[in-house]
Amino acid sequence: MVTRWLLAYDAYDPATEGVRESLCTLGNGYFATRGALPETSADGIHYPGTYVAGVYDRLTSVVAGREVENEDIVNVPNWLPLTFRVNGGAWFSPDTSTLVSYRQELDMRRGVLTRLLRVRDDAGRTTRVTQRRIVSMDDPHVAALETTILPEDWSGRLEVRSALDGQVGNMGVARYRALNGRHLEPVAVGEAGDKAGDEVIWLQSRTVSSRIEIAVAARTRVTTGAVAARELQREPGWICHNLLIDVTEGTPVTVEKIAALFTSHDRAIMECGDAARTRVARAPAFDALLERHTLAWDTVWQRCRISIDQEDAQRVLNLHMFHLLQTVSEHTVDLDAGVPARGLHGEAYRGHIFWDELFVLPFLMLQFPEIARALLMYRWRRLPQARWAAQEAGLPGAMYPWQSGSDGREESQRLHLNPQSGRWLPDDSHLQRHVGLAIAYNVWRFYEATGDMEFLAEYGAEMLLEIARFFAGLATYDRTLDRYEIRGVMGPDEYHDRYPGATGPGLDNNAYTNILTVWVLRRALAALSELPEYRRAELIERLRLKRAEITRFEDVSRKMRVVFHNDVISQFEGYEKLAQLDWTGLLDRHGGDIRRLDRVLEADGDSANNYQVSKQADVVMLFYLLPAEELTEILTRLGYPCDHELIRRTIAYYMARTVHGSTLSALVHAWVLARTDGDVAWNFFIETLHADVDDLQHGTTAEGVHLGAMAGTVDMVQRCYAGVEVHDDVLRLSPRLPREITRLRFELRYRGHWGVAVSCTQDLLRVQVRRDGAGPIQVAVPGHDIVTIQPGGSWEIPLINGRAE
Ligand code: BGC
Repeated sequence: MVTRWLLAYDAYDPATEGVRESLCTLGNGYFATRGALPETSADGIHYPGTYVAGVYDRLTSVVAGREVENEDIVNVPNWLPLTFRVNGGAWFSPDTSTLVSYRQELDMRRGVLTRLLRVRDDAGRTTRVTQRRIVSMDDPHVAALETTILPEDWSGRLEVRSALDGQVGNMGVARYRALNGRHLEPVAVGEAGDKAGDEVIWLQSRTVSSRIEIAVAARTRVTTGAVAARELQREPGWICHNLLIDVTEGTPVTVEKIAALFTSHDRAIMECGDAARTRVARAPAFDALLERHTLAWDTVWQRCRISIDQEDAQRVLNLHMFHLLQTVSEHTVDLDAGVPARGLHGEAYRGHIFWDELFVLPFLMLQFPEIARALLMYRWRRLPQARWAAQEAGLPGAMYPWQSGSDGREESQRLHLNPQSGRWLPDDSHLQRHVGLAIAYNVWRFYEATGDMEFLAEYGAEMLLEIARFFAGLATYDRTLDRYEIRGVMGPDEYHDRYPGATGPGLDNNAYTNILTVWVLRRALAALSELPEYRRAELIERLRLKRAEITRFEDVSRKMRVVFHNDVISQFEGYEKLAQLDWTGLLDRHGGDIRRLDRVLEADGDSANNYQVSKQADVVMLFYLLPAEELTEILTRLGYPCDHELIRRTIAYYMARTVHGSTLSALVHAWVLARTDGDVAWNFFIETLHADVDDLQHGTTAEGVHLGAMAGTVDMVQRCYAGVEVHDDVLRLSPRLPREITRLRFELRYRGHWGVAVSCTQDLLRVQVRRDGAGPIQVAVPGHDIVTIQPGGSWEIPLINGRAE
């Protein structure tokens, strides 16, 4: 059950515990801990996992007779373990003890995870437990667990065990379990000395190859009730305090565990172990931590208010914003970290960074530009690596990796397991060169949204130019056609990596890649001309950018090849020659669910490569990223026909062939259909909203949330339903409110204003600019002249059925 700010569960359900752990993850942009129960460890039902942004490690494993190296975001030592027993009986566990009642609640407004339960032990004694947990949004190194234990009908000896567990590994994803996941070496454990008092235990580990030291310290204190004795137990990589407490029937005992987590990557510390011990020793009590934490979340929600009058959708949007802002926050700004596709919520995709930031950054740009900038800086710092990769491939510029981790080398696996056939198969997904285009796209959109010329001049233009250089180099000229082509790549649709029967991977003239390349080349040229003259000259010299290269950018952008068939844009050259799929037969054989058609077909000895079927939006991505006018302009300039009919036909053609095997796909379809087919679009939107909360991709949520789709739904409200775009210093609004929403409201950070309020009903659009020291802004709505709104002023225009025209 979910309410506007609450995700609540009324019973304990081992079968869905993994999903619940992901959805109840608490984090602060520096680290996050899954909502696993403190009395459990990794055992197939439970999976406690804690991940620190940017902390990776690589290990070698042998699979299918081959050595493979993988880099993972590291599951760091678990700070959570805490359980209890009565009079020396069995330790409490939800799986073996008798639960009389059980409730778990995630309060998204305040970032608090609460559990209320009553348990009966073998001797018939009933104990009530109330437990609250936070991962502080105020102090990014601190987490806290408060447990109140009430003996309802007994008196006797209560023993509470509070541990730190560094014996954890990366075991969260079943498919990866055959691989080496032991990333931590024990360094030391101990009880803190004078400085921290005898309530503190600590543990220090080191990652195997990245040699990052990770320290966790915990202070366990009984705040109501007296500790008769405190015992210490330790072994390499594990340490605990056992607190012996004499309790009386009806009198509650409260135990507070305050933890601090630091790594050797952190700044402003002497050494991470020392920092962790000092921080817990100085930490105030749970209530004070909670107060500051709540205040910090208040500030976050003040800055990020998006409301619609659709109760159900609003609840899930809150959950999505909550998880996004727990993965990246103001605490990420000082780190060298990107935005992992599955959040800091699980180990799927090993914490790697993909093109998914394309779905995350546009929202952040308009709400938290400093976070968006920090995420772009993660890419900028990896430019040397991307340049080296391009050079190795015999190409100029920068070739960003499909999957990126610590240093920006290509982290995509070269073999992947099909759990349905048990076979390890070649993985060529690294051929998705379009990831570089996504980075360039974000750089330019960030500049447009924020007007941050300093960023463009210092960092953005360099990335744009190097990426443009790479793609201009990747394009080859065909004299007979007088066209440029891009051969041997993969588009976003991961079900096609080669032609049927081909010996090698790669496809030719993927329309998404080719057209976006043109867009990027033109933006690179635009960036050059917008830079202040001295910086332009500096950059041209620094990058040794030759006149001939600039001419080539221009030439490729006019002569790129786009392939068409049956009056639609071809996903890639030859798509129409692929066989048609027997949809009915397949759907019947697989119980109606063929989202992972690649696995289904491979297990049958066939291949998705043989068919006209797409995992996800591919060509259709173009209509998501580029407004129709922009796309029409690009295609017309290339000498191809383009109008709304072509767009409509192309969407319909691929929709009939797309299985939405990625959560990103439903989102993109919700967006592109919003103008033309409201009902279908709304269903796609609802499907995207429910992707994680209802685990629609069958078990994948337990391995981490789908952050691109989560952020994408929130972004959709702003940029699709309210139609926010920024071009040429003008805030453009082109509302297309779905029937189901009658009121929508949000605030933007824009041109120095901390709150430009946009509200929209089916018949009115209103923009309000607070008086906060920044200057007037320009606003445009289709069919109306550009208006200037002064600080303190507002402007409104009528809408008809949620649209301006
Ligand atoms: C999708 C990719 C996406 C990746 C990470 C895959 O299933 O096909 O487009 O980048 O997941 O979210």
